[in-house]
Amino acid sequence: MIKLQENSAETTVAKLPSGRQKSQLLQTIKIILQPIQNLENLRQRYGDIFYSEFASFPPQLIISDPKAIQEIFTADSQLFESGAGNQVIQPLVGANSLILLDGDRHVQQRKLLMPPFHGERMRAYGQIIRDITAQVTSQWVIGKPFVARSSMQDISLQVILRSVFGLEEGERYQQIKQILVAMLNTFNTPLSAILLFFKSLQKDLVPWSPWGKFVRRRELLDKLLYQEIQERREQNKTDGEDILSLLMSARDEAGQPMSDAELRDELMTMLFAGHETTAIALAWALYWIHYLPEVREKLLQELNSIDIANADPMAIAQLPYLNAVCYETLRIYPVAFFTFPRILRTDMRFMGYDLPKGMYLSICIYLTHQRPDIYPEPKRFRPERFLERQFSPYEFIPFGGANRRCLGAAFAMFEMKLVLANILSHYSLELLDKVPLQPVRRGIVFAPPGGVRLAVREKVGKG
Ligand code: HEM
Repeated sequence: MIKLQENSAETTVAKLPSGRQKSQLLQTIKIILQPIQNLENLRQRYGDIFYSEFASFPPQLIISDPKAIQEIFTADSQLFESGAGNQVIQPLVGANSLILLDGDRHVQQRKLLMPPFHGERMRAYGQIIRDITAQVTSQWVIGKPFVARSSMQDISLQVILRSVFGLEEGERYQQIKQILVAMLNTFNTPLSAILLFFKSLQKDLVPWSPWGKFVRRRELLDKLLYQEIQERREQNKTDGEDILSLLMSARDEAGQPMSDAELRDELMTMLFAGHETTAIALAWALYWIHYLPEVREKLLQELNSIDIANADPMAIAQLPYLNAVCYETLRIYPVAFFTFPRILRTDMRFMGYDLPKGMYLSICIYLTHQRPDIYPEPKRFRPERFLERQFSPYEFIPFGGANRRCLGAAFAMFEMKLVLANILSHYSLELLDKVPLQPVRRGIVFAPPGGVRLAVREKVGKG
C-alpha cells in the first residue's frame, strides 16, 4: 500500500477540471518541454520524495533526498531492475544494449565493457584526445563564430571512435560520424524529443517524416557497423584492446560468441551514451568559463603553472581547480536530469513507506544538485564549493550510482579536462551569447540552448 497521500500528485491530478487522463498527458508534456520550472514547482509543493504519474509511464516516486538515494544505492541491486524502464531509447540502441539489460546478463556485459574505461588504458587515450582536439580546433578561424556544442561533439565522437572502438580514419569512419550526428539531430528540439516518449508517434509513414528519416539513417548506420564487424572477422582482427575486439573475442558459459546483432547494439550504446553527453558537458564548461571572467582567470592561472602541451595527461587530470570547474559544470545543469529508474522487483519498505512491486524510483539528479542545504546559493556557478568540502556519492550524482553507475564516468572526466586544458592554453575565446542560459531538452539529455556561440579572439599557444 502506498502511504503518500500528503505528497500525492494523484490527488492533485484528480482534482484538476480537465480530468485525470488529460492532466497526466499535460503534466508529461510540461515535464518534457519545461523540466526545470516543472520539477522545481513539484518539489516545492510536495517535498523531496513525491509520488507522480506521467502519461505512458508507470507510477513513480521522484526522489531528491540524499538519505533516500543512499538507501537505494546501498541496497542489494537484485531488488531493482532498470533495463525495463529504459525502453524509450530502444529505437536508438537496440534491445541487447547494456542499458536495457537486467540481472545476470547485465552483470556479465558490464564486466566485459568495463576494462577499456579504467586504469592504464586511460593513459593511452590522453594523446588521442590531445591530437583530435588540436585537429578540430585548427579549423576555427579568428573572429568567425562557431557553436561550441557542435565543435565539442566533433571531438568527443572522434575520441570514442578511435580510442574505444579502435576505428581508423577513413571513409567508413567519416560516414559513421556524419550519420550518427544526423540521427541524433532527429530529437534535437524539445518538441521533436516527444517522438521518443510516445510510441504511437513512431510511424514510418513517409521517408521524409521525422521518424521515417530517423529509420533510414539508422539502417545506413547499421550497414556500416555490420561491415566493420564483418571485416574484423575476415581479417581476424579481434585481438586489439578496444571494445569491439573484446566483445568479439568474448564467449558465454556455453562457449558461444556474441551475435552480430548483440555486437551492433553494444557499439550503438557506447556511441550513443558516450559522446553527446561529454560534448554537452564541454559546451556548458566553455560557457561558464567565458561567462564568468573570474573563473577563466583562476583557471588560466592554474593551467599556466604547467606546460600543458607536454605535460603527462594524468598530471592535467589532477589539477584541483580544473576538476572543480568540471564538477560544478555537471552539478549546476547535469546533462542527465534523472538516473535510470530503479523498478521494484518485490514489495518494499522504503524510507517509511510501503511500496508495491513495479513502482519506479526515479532519482532526480537536477533537484538533488539544487538543494540549498547541500549547495548554498545553488543557482550560482561557484567551483570553489568543490575545493571547500567533499560531497558524498549520494549528494553529487552526475553519473548516477551503484550497479548502474555510468560506465564512462572516469573517461568523460578525463576527456573534459584534457580538452578544456588544451583549448584554453591555445586559444583566447569570446562568448558571443553573454546572457543567462537554461538547459533545453535534446532527446533524453539537456543541453545549452543554441549550443553556446563563441569566437576565437586570438591564438595564444604554440602549436
Ligand atoms: C559527461 C558525460 C556523461 C554523463 C553526465 C553520463 C551520465 C550517465 C548517467 C546519469 C547514467 C545512469 C546511471 C544510473 O542510473 O545510476 C549513465 C549510464 C551509462 N553511461 Fe554515461 N554519462 C557520460 C558519459 C559516458 C561515456 C563517455 C560513456 C562511454 C563511453 C558512457 C556510458 C554509459 C553506459 C554504458 C551507461 C549504462 C550503465 C549500465 O546500465 O550499467 N557515459 N551515464
